[in-house]
Amino acid sequence: MTFQRSITALACALACALAGGAAAAQDTRQFVEMPAAARENLRQEMVDNLAALHEIVSLMGVGRVKDAGEVAEKRLGLSAMGKNRDMPLDARPGAHMPPGMRELGTNGHKAASAFAAAAAGGDATKALAAMPDMLSSCAACHLSYRTR
Ligand code: HEC
Repeated sequence: MTFQRSITALACALACALAGGAAAAQDTRQFVEMPAAARENLRQEMVDNLAALHEIVSLMGVGRVKDAGEVAEKRLGLSAMGKNRDMPLDARPGAHMPPGMRELGTNGHKAASAFAAAAAGGDATKALAAMPDMLSSCAACHLSYRTR
């Protein structure tokens, strides 16, 4: 192979690798358009979700299983659902979600309540077993949808 041809081959391989990388990094999540107020409320809720999760994991870490369950129910569970009901339509994130996205949200609330029920008896092993389900809706929704 001449020098010229091997340089061409190398450049080609590089270009292909870069193109492949770009394709892999492409955002394939479904874009969900929301009014700014709904998007901002969703973001606020999400920040609170993460804070709640941190509190739950911290409580589990020091063996306060029942307390972890109570935080989960109050901040992530079915008890935390529907609090935007009385807001104007353009401020309610759920009202702008496609059905699949809304279902993931509802499943997340249900799973957090299931974790709370499992934690209510104070059994750490039982509570831990219910934890992955509480997180799978977070992961599933983030992998499938975006709002910006
Ligand atoms: C029904 C879908 C859905 C569920 C369920 C969900 N999220 Fe989100 N989350 C979103 C969307 C949409 C965004 C905005 C991302 C975007 O538009 O790129 C977001 C953003 C976030 C952010 C970033 C907030 C910021 O300041 O930008 C955090 C943190 C977060 N979510 C945490 C969580 C946690 C923790 C859970 C589970 C307890 C969770 N989310 C469950 C849809 C969801």
